[in-house]
Amino acid sequence: MTPSQIIKILVGVVVFLVVAIYLLAKLATSGFNVDAEVMTKEAVAARLKPVGQSVASDAPPGMRSGEQVYTAVCISCHGTGLAGSPKFGDAAAWGARISKGFDTLVTHALGGFNAMPAKGGATDLTDDEIKRAVAYMGNAAGGKFTEPAVGGAAAGAKIDPEVNGKKIYESLCVSCHGAGVAGAPKFGDKAAWAARTKAGMEEVQKIATKGLNAMPPKGGFTGSDEEFRSAIDYMVNHSK
Ligand code: HEC
Ligand code: HEC
Repeated sequence: MTPSQIIKILVGVVVFLVVAIYLLAKLATSGFNVDAEVMTKEAVAARLKPVGQSVASDAPPGMRSGEQVYTAVCISCHGTGLAGSPKFGDAAAWGARISKGFDTLVTHALGGFNAMPAKGGATDLTDDEIKRAVAYMGNAAGGKFTEPAVGGAAAGAKIDPEVNGKKIYESLCVSCHGAGVAGAPKFGDKAAWAARTKAGMEEVQKIATKGLNAMPPKGGFTGSDEEFRSAIDYMVNHSK
C-alpha cells in the first residue's frame, strides 16, 4: 500500500464512524421516544379490548338486552365502522344486510363473517344475546326486527312460568334461591315460601321488585315485570 491509499482508508473509517455515531445518537434521543399518551394503561386496554374481551355489564350472563350487548361489545367495531363493518345507525350501510333477513344476519354474527369475528369475539355471549344485539343494531338502521325478549319470550307471546320463568330461574335466581344463600327462601322449601306468600303474590312481587336485604332489586333481572313475575311463580309453584 502507498501512503496515499492508507490515508484514503483512514479517512473512510473516520467518516464511517462519524456517521454511525450520529445515527446512533439520533436513534437514542428520538427513535425510541415513546409517546406517553399512546402508552397509558387506558389507551393500551382500549386497543387490546376488541380481541377476546368478555362482557362488562351489570346484567347477569344471558340476560343482557341488545343495547347492553351492543354497548359492551359490538360498539368497538360497529360504533365507528371499523374494518369495513356496517356502522351503527347507518341506514345505507345496513340496508343490503337487513334485506338478507334476520336469520342470516344472526348466523353470520354467531359464526363470524369475513372480518367479523364469531360473536364479535365475546364468546361468553349467549345465542339469544347475539340475536338481541343483531335486532338492536338492525333496527337502529331502519330494520324491523323483533328483539327476542330477555327470558326467551317473543314480544306479545304468552309468558309461561314453566318456560320463561324456569329459564330465568335457572340462569339467575338459582344462584341464591337454589341453596338458600344469604337467607333467600330456598327453591322447594314449602315452609319458607308459605311464610312469604301469606300476604299474597302481588305483595311478594312488589317486595322482590324493590329488593329486600340481600335480595337485589328484581334479583338483578333486567327484563320485563311479567317475565320477572313468571320466575317468582315458577319458584312458588314448585315450593308448595
Ligand atoms: C372486531 C370487529 C367487530 C366486532 C367486535 C363486531 N363486528 Fe360485526 N362486523 C364486523 C365486520 C368487519 C363486518 C362486515 C363483514 C363483511 O361484510 O365482510 C361485520 C358485520 C356484521 C353483521 C352483518 C353480517 C352480514 O351478513 O352482512 C352483523 C349482523 C354483525 N356484524 C353483528 C355483530 C354483533 C351482534 C356484534 C357484537 C356482539 C358484532 N357484530 C361485533 C366487525 C365486528
Ligand atoms: C344475590 C342473591 C339473590 C338472587 C340472585 C335472587 N334473590 Fe330473591 N332473595 C334473595 C334473598 C337473600 C331473599 C330474602 C330477603 C330477606 O327476606 O331478607 C330473597 C327473597 C326473594 C323473594 C321473597 C320476597 C318476599 O316477599 O319476602 C322473592 C319473590 C324473590 N327473592 C324472587 C327472586 C327472583 C324471581 C329472582 C331471579 C330473577 C331472585 N329472587 C334472585 C336473594 C337473591
